[in-house]
Amino acid sequence: MIPYCLIKPFVLALDPETAHELSIAGLRTLGAFLPSKGPLPDTPIDVMGLSFPNRVGLAAGLDKNGEAIDGLATWGFGHLEVGTVTPRPQPGNPKPRMFRLPEVEGIINRMGFNNHGIDALIANVKAAKYKGILGINIGKNADTPIERAVDDYRIGFEKAYPHASYVTVNISSPNTQNLRRLQGASELDALLAALKSQQSALADRHGRYVPLVLKIAPDLDDAQIDAIADALRRHRCDGVIATNTTLDRSRVTGLRHANEAGGLSGAPLFELSTEVLRKLARALAGEVPIIAAGGVVDGAKAKAKLDAGAQLVQIYSGLVYRGPGLVAECVAATRAAR
Ligand code: FNR
Repeated sequence: MIPYCLIKPFVLALDPETAHELSIAGLRTLGAFLPSKGPLPDTPIDVMGLSFPNRVGLAAGLDKNGEAIDGLATWGFGHLEVGTVTPRPQPGNPKPRMFRLPEVEGIINRMGFNNHGIDALIANVKAAKYKGILGINIGKNADTPIERAVDDYRIGFEKAYPHASYVTVNISSPNTQNLRRLQGASELDALLAALKSQQSALADRHGRYVPLVLKIAPDLDDAQIDAIADALRRHRCDGVIATNTTLDRSRVTGLRHANEAGGLSGAPLFELSTEVLRKLARALAGEVPIIAAGGVVDGAKAKAKLDAGAQLVQIYSGLVYRGPGLVAECVAATRAAR
């Protein structure tokens, strides 16, 4: 395999979305021809009743349609999360909608859940050879009124359930109007109540319990974090992902693209998302497992997420700047943590 440092200048010279599309196409081809070596080995860890072969997973948004599952599996992840997928296909926001901030290893995106719809994703999941842990991340269509958001999540949950190891409910993208309102106390209560009762019915129907995970934003004050933790505990949510991208720009002021609308990820997100993770871990007191995402661009940052209270770690932006070798670096660093 060609070292990523040789490919990186060419990748970064391309428009970000073109580079992304070429990567997905390349990974799809790779997955079709290369036998997967499987996940990088570690002592398996039990989280949400699932046995994760290592602590490092792929964050949602890189493979929104589940097109490159077998290719991504060759990178050694302990789990893959595909999506966000919506009930119906939708184009997302106008381009350009993805921007690199290379000086700080950051990305700003306002993709807006561009995806081929859940039926297309399920067809891809069924066609994949991958047998490892697969999370399916669900969202709402842009033209579904926020008052009807629960309907979209119910459709996503119903369809994803038989094909997922776990299902993530994404209420934290900054790029779908009003979506983050679902993090409010009464909205979250209604959403989790509906999905947990649906989960019981689906578990009976399919004879298998599929964990339900909530993905939250980093832009929350202490009272909001406590209220979310309280809802997660009361509804016995199976897990939580902290965090999605941020609207905060204080760590990137003055940089090219810093004022583009959208969510900021990568290294400039690390401190903020780790602070939210730490507060959430304190509030949850071990009752609900936490999957960390946000600014993991090297092994030390992956380990820091475990030290702050996470059981598992996910990465996305770091892969753009460090390449697939980042997976092995993070697996080694989180293995050494024990
Ligand atoms: C994302 N992320 C994301 N998250 C999600 O739940 N659904 C999605 O569709 C997307 N889409 C998406 C697109 C792009 C271009 C980026 C960079 C990110 C957020 C991602 O999963 C993760 O939570 C954050 O990016 C923080 O992790 P990193 O990137 O700092 O490792």
